[in-house]
Amino acid sequence: MTLYKNKNKKMHRNPHTNNVHTPVMLAEVIEYVEPLKAERYLDVTAGYGGHAEAILGRSENYEQSVLIDRDASAIKELMHKFGGRGIQILHQDYLSASLSLLKQGRSFDIIVADLGVSSPHLNEVSRGFSFTKDAPLDMRMDQQQQLTAWDIVNKSSEEQLADVLRNYGEEPRYRQIAKLIVKNRPISSTTELAALAQKAWGRHSRTHPATRTFQAIRIAVNDELTQLGQALPVWLRLLAPKGRLAIISFHSLEDRVVKQFFASESGDRYDSILTVLTKHPVAPGPHEIANNPRSRSAKLRVAVKQK
Ligand SMILES: C[S@@+](CC[C@H](N)C(=O)[O-])C[C@H]1O[C@@H](n2cnc3c(N)ncnc32)[C@H](O)[C@@H]1O
Repeated sequence: MTLYKNKNKKMHRNPHTNNVHTPVMLAEVIEYVEPLKAERYLDVTAGYGGHAEAILGRSENYEQSVLIDRDASAIKELMHKFGGRGIQILHQDYLSASLSLLKQGRSFDIIVADLGVSSPHLNEVSRGFSFTKDAPLDMRMDQQQQLTAWDIVNKSSEEQLADVLRNYGEEPRYRQIAKLIVKNRPISSTTELAALAQKAWGRHSRTHPATRTFQAIRIAVNDELTQLGQALPVWLRLLAPKGRLAIISFHSLEDRVVKQFFASESGDRYDSILTVLTKHPVAPGPHEIANNPRSRSAKLRVAVKQK
C-alpha cells in the first residue's frame, strides 16, 4: 500500500499528459442513434467528450443532458469542454450515478456507454494500465478508489488470483500464473507482473502473454463486469419511449453481457421492451483500425426502446 501511495503523488503531477482520446466508431454511433434536436442525452462513460460533442452538437439540449465519468482527469476535460452550458457533469461510477438519476425521475432519449479505458489511461504510464512500461501496480480508473492492482496481486489468495485470471482474463494458464505470483510476492510493478505471465507462457503465446493477466486484474480492480451487468437494467428504465441505447465494448466478456441483455429484453414476446438495431455487432472499418489501432477490438450494439 505504501508503495502505491508514494507513487500516487507522482501521478497527479501532470494529470493531462497524453490526454488525447479518439472516439471509436463515431460515425456508426451517429448513424444508429440518429440524434434529433432537443433530445436528452446521457453519456455514462463521457471520457474526453468525443461522442458527447458530436451528439450534443446535434441535439443542442445541454440543460437536460448528463455526462458521467469516474476518472478525475476526464472530468476536468469535460468541465473545460462543456462547463457553463447548463449540462450536468458527474464524477461518479456509472452504476451509482445512473441509480441516482433514476431516483430523481430523470429520463433520456439517447444513452451511450463506450466501455473500458481511455487512451490517456493507457498512455499515462504511472497509472499502471500498460504492461509494456514500468509503473506501480495501480489500474484504478477512479483515482479516489482505495483498492488498487497492488492489493489484488499482493493480498489475494492463490485461489482468488486463479479465479480472477480465469473469469476476467479467460487466461488458460491461470493456475501457473497464480502460483508464480504468490511465489514471487511482493510484486510492485507492472513489468514484474508481466514477466511472470511471460514465464508461464514461454514462447507459446500468440498475443503478448501478459495481455489476459492485465485485462483480468484491471476488470477486478474496477469491478467492471458487475458495474455493467447491474447498470444495463437501470439504463433501460432511464430510457424514454423510442430512446436509443448504444454500447461499445472492447472484449468478449463485456460484449457477452450486452448481447445477452439485449436478447433477454427483445424479441416477439408481449413483454419485449427493446428492438435491437444491430443484428450483428458493428465493428470498426479497416481505415479506422489503421488510424486508431485501439479500436480494433471494439463492438457496437444498439437497441431502441419500444414503449
Ligand atoms: C473509452 S473511454 C470513453 C471515451 C469517450 N466516449 C470519448 O469519446 O471521449 C471510457 C471512459 O469511461 C470511464 N469509465 C469506465 N467505466 C466506468 C464506470 N463504471 N463508471 C464511470 N466511468 C467509467 C473511464 O474512466 C473512461 O474515461
